[in-house]
Amino acid sequence: MKSTIQVHDKHFEVFIEQSVLEKRITALASSINQDYAGKQPLFLAILNGSFMFAAELMKSITVSCEITFLRVSSYQATESTGKVHQILGLSESIENRDIIIIEDIIDTGLTMIEIKKQLLAQNPSSLSVATLFQKPEALKQPIEIEYIGFEIENKFVLGYGLDYDGLGRNLADLYVLSE
Ligand code: XMP
Ligand code: MG
Repeated sequence: MKSTIQVHDKHFEVFIEQSVLEKRITALASSINQDYAGKQPLFLAILNGSFMFAAELMKSITVSCEITFLRVSSYQATESTGKVHQILGLSESIENRDIIIIEDIIDTGLTMIEIKKQLLAQNPSSLSVATLFQKPEALKQPIEIEYIGFEIENKFVLGYGLDYDGLGRNLADLYVLSE
């Protein structure tokens, strides 16, 4: 039996080990280095979840670049309009810049669709997305994602920056809810 850890009321087991995560992240960085050769991209890392992925990715980025950190606040506006996402913390101009969004996980895709819409309105010269995880089965609308670390099944995951109710972001491996 796999060993489990408990976070709040739930049990989780190791799903993807740190070494596997890091190897894949290095490969993503290589693709980015090739695609952005001669350019100077601005990375926008979405807090809190992407901090560990962003740190690991940046260590293998060799093109000249900048990084800044954003927060997306979401709240329920009305029943009919659903969630509203507001981008907080973007003080630099992204006009005519090559932008790469760094996200931890894309689930329904609705958060990323809204982030992309708001950033595109500020006229970057290009906009791409690097996400460590994606749950293809959970996607509600089609969305273009240029760099995907791992496509995973539609189960709740934790660790490597991702939390369950605030806890677990410090775990170096990715965990999944035990059945
Ligand atoms: P959507 O559905 O808009 O949501 O793509 C993306 C955000 O939802 C959170 N999320 C998770 N967080 N384990 C987590 O710790 C998960 O399995 C998970 N799935 C979605 C996450 O904050 C992401 O930015
Ligand atoms: Mg997140």
